[in-house]
Amino acid sequence: MKQMLKLAPSILSADFKNLGADIKAVEEGGAHYLHIDVMDGVFVPSISFGMPVIKSIRSATGMVFDVHLMIVDPIRYIEEFAKSGADLITFHLEAAEDPQAVIDEIRRHGCKVGISIKPRTPFEDVAPYMDKVDMLLVMTVEPGFGGQKMMPETLGKVRAARDYVTEKGLPTDIQVDGGVKYDNLHLFLEAGANIFVAGSAVFGDDPLGNTRKFCEYLAEKQG
Ligand code: DX5
Ligand code: ZN
Repeated sequence: MKQMLKLAPSILSADFKNLGADIKAVEEGGAHYLHIDVMDGVFVPSISFGMPVIKSIRSATGMVFDVHLMIVDPIRYIEEFAKSGADLITFHLEAAEDPQAVIDEIRRHGCKVGISIKPRTPFEDVAPYMDKVDMLLVMTVEPGFGGQKMMPETLGKVRAARDYVTEKGLPTDIQVDGGVKYDNLHLFLEAGANIFVAGSAVFGDDPLGNTRKFCEYLAEKQG
């Protein structure tokens, strides 16, 4: 099954005084998803933003809102994120006491479901959920900050996930997040990812030009 290759620019690295314009730029550049990183200062050391920001940018774009929750006990907030405009909600396996209950709660609110694992969590821990979610997010840096270097040792896990879904004939998307650059995109692609989060590589300078470059490359690889 040939999956769509998609870019998901992460607004964590956007210029917040110009957030609307930055979002328009990546939409115009051809991005499919808008990756929105929510951090609570507990699951990860940093704090980013939450519902009010998501609500206010919802009317700026038709892109898929790909909300990455880096928060403890995510089930508490699913309803609010769904109501704020999330289309796809990804939670961390490590943060949920009962992952299946979180999956059910996300579906109950009409959103697609993503599940994520940190660099040190083995694929085997998340494998039982692969037929229950729409997307697996493999973190390729320790979650918490943009602008880090990708950890090459995480690529094996992307490969294991791709082999697993191929073998089982599952449509589950595989997203990678952390340290994705134009120059190393091929590594993630070869490992089997099909959705690519890029924060600093897109918003660092010229979001429109960077998005175009990424999307042209992916379109060419899509064939
Ligand atoms: C990190 C976030 C990422 C981050 C990626 O915890 O989940 O989405 O924005 O930023 P870059 O692409 O700069 O590594
Ligand atoms: Zn993220």
